[in-house]
Amino acid sequence: MTPHIDQHSQFVNGDIQRKVLVTGAAGFGGSNLTGALLREGYRVTGLDITPPASASLLSRELRHSSFQYLWKSVQDIQPSDVEGHSIVVHMAAQADTPMAFDSPRHTVMQNVLGTVELLEAVRHADCVSKFLYAGSGNELGRAHYLPLDERHPLTPHNPYGFSKAAAEMAIWTWRRSYGLPSIVIGTGVVVGPDMRREVFIYKWLWRALKGKPIVVEGGSQTRDVAYIDDVVEAWMLAIRAPEEMVVGHKFYAGSGQEYSIEKLAAICREVAGVPVPIEKVGYRPGEKGQREAFSIEKARAMLGYSPRTTPVEAITLTADWIRTQLESSPAEAKDISILP
Ligand SMILES: NC(=O)c1ccc[n+]([C@@H]2O[C@H](COP(=O)([O-])OP(=O)(O)OC[C@H]3O[C@@H](n4cnc5c(N)ncnc54)[C@H](O)[C@@H]3O)[C@@H](O)[C@H]2O)c1
Repeated sequence: MTPHIDQHSQFVNGDIQRKVLVTGAAGFGGSNLTGALLREGYRVTGLDITPPASASLLSRELRHSSFQYLWKSVQDIQPSDVEGHSIVVHMAAQADTPMAFDSPRHTVMQNVLGTVELLEAVRHADCVSKFLYAGSGNELGRAHYLPLDERHPLTPHNPYGFSKAAAEMAIWTWRRSYGLPSIVIGTGVVVGPDMRREVFIYKWLWRALKGKPIVVEGGSQTRDVAYIDDVVEAWMLAIRAPEEMVVGHKFYAGSGQEYSIEKLAAICREVAGVPVPIEKVGYRPGEKGQREAFSIEKARAMLGYSPRTTPVEAITLTADWIRTQLESSPAEAKDISILP
């Protein structure tokens, strides 16, 4: 596969300005990455099913002269949408674990078929020199050993994890079949301003700040919590790295620290500064006994990844953002009350 440089490319700081296609650009991860790419002089096409008028996380980027919004599903992507891009970052997904329990078919359609359509478009466009995929700790499921590293088998324990694992398998399959320049960057729970309101840490912080009990599903299972800026930096390191160094590789880019869910609930309560009760309910299906503790040594050694924000600092910064939202937007105070 020959990397194709668009004839309209310009030189920025001595480098050819590269054009990046980010799927899921209107989401939490995609919008933050899009901002970082534009700040570094890349040209970006952001693809998402979110209508442009509702893409609030991209409000600044939509006005940027180097940004183009493609309002489209990855399931309908064509080679012509990919042409002219040398890098594709695949973030688009039905990313909610709880929703996938109730809507497994939709989740598989979005995450697996959407990925296969994108891979086919990338293959036929024949211009992409890096294809990056946002992997999830959910793909690994029950740990066979700890810390979890890039060689750990994909043994998902919930429908969302299955969809992400199947998509990752497709990405490696297209590499083996067609030589696609695949790269996977996996993370655990990513938090920070603009994070999804459906994620448990957001819900717990919101509830604690509102003086409501924190409701914990299970308790002893563990998670790796990372801050959005650190995760975006990991993506940027892989984007900037020479192709021969990163293509064909998987990296974990979390915090490298393991926290139990009950400890995270206690941290959320402390950070919120409101002594609300912590109520425990049953585990989600497949969750009991799950441990998520990543080794980030490969990312550290090969990419120079070095997370700067600890999980406690990350949760504190997220709480500060939610507090500001609650103070400035009465809608924020109402919306979340519909969530369990
Ligand atoms: N946030 C996390 O904690 C986390 C952790 C590990 C992996 N990931 C992965 O990172 C990626 C981004 O996650 P996020 O938290 O930003 O989620 P998000 O829900 O905020 O963003 C996903 C975006 O994808 C879009 N999308 C969904 N289906 C689409 C389709 N068919 N076509 C085009 N766009 C579509 C959505 O509209 C949304 O804007 C996902 O692939 C997710 O699985 C996230």
